[in-house]
Amino acid sequence: MNALQGRDLLSLADLSAQEIQDLLQLAADLKAGKVKPRCDKVLGLLFNKASTRTRVSFTVAMYQLGGQVIDLNPNVTQINRGEPLADTARVLNRYLDILAIRTFEQQELQTFADYCDIPIVNALSDREHPCQILADLLTIQECFGTLAGLTLTYLGDGNNVAHSLLLGCALVGMNIRIGCPGGYLPDGEIVAQAQAIANSRATTQQPPTEVLVTEDPKEAVAGVQILYTDVWASMGQESLADSRIPIFQPYQINDQLLSFADSHAIVLHCLPAHREEEITDAVIEGVRSRVWDQAENRMHAQKALLVSLLGAD
Ligand code: CP
Repeated sequence: MNALQGRDLLSLADLSAQEIQDLLQLAADLKAGKVKPRCDKVLGLLFNKASTRTRVSFTVAMYQLGGQVIDLNPNVTQINRGEPLADTARVLNRYLDILAIRTFEQQELQTFADYCDIPIVNALSDREHPCQILADLLTIQECFGTLAGLTLTYLGDGNNVAHSLLLGCALVGMNIRIGCPGGYLPDGEIVAQAQAIANSRATTQQPPTEVLVTEDPKEAVAGVQILYTDVWASMGQESLADSRIPIFQPYQINDQLLSFADSHAIVLHCLPAHREEEITDAVIEGVRSRVWDQAENRMHAQKALLVSLLGAD
């Protein structure tokens, strides 16, 4: 039995550094066709928010493993008619082998985890997006051949993606910088958690990796190897999008800001992108962009996750 079998993934911090490395190695082996595990299991997708990449990549990954998927749109279940989550969780636990949930509240994920024995996977909450960051780390490892010692800068809203990047980068020994306007900073608890992880990895020979939150976009990107951004208004914040544009404009990834990064820097975006807002069309379509590899890697990383949580071989 592997160490992840039967576990939940609610936060990236549920994984150790070694477990992340093992998942990335398995994802790379799956992508290269070096291993072909089979998995005759059923995955439920309970998505309260829209999704293209997460929904399709989980579905295709499970099909390719030989498993099946049930799309549990809340509008066709009893959830939106008031059935308590704890009751829904206990029933789904009797039918499914694994359940991926996309929702607003992290607490909803915890409720499912409390009432289910099957693995519960965070497919995005307002607090974290751990599956996205596994694919991001796989992409970075493919580009640079390593993770430790690299510096990633996330520019924009201190949102769920920023939170999981903080934890993921700290866990794998990467430096992480967040450049965002005051008032849109990442959650202080998560920044402190990332700093504690970085400190715990330090040795007498090796100081802690950097965990920096700054309002200065040039300070954030100076010399870094990876630039990353996300939309300035997340799902559920659409009414705020226009008012945020002038606030976030200095954090747009464009050719000028990119010129302050390392000359071999790559650009990532979890998608969907709003061109000419958080990233220019020239940059996302340019030679530094790795966003399509990053999107493809959602499938490989999540296939590795399914194999590990389900104990397939
Ligand atoms: N990046 C991401 O989670 O994409 P979707 O919202 O399309 O799933």
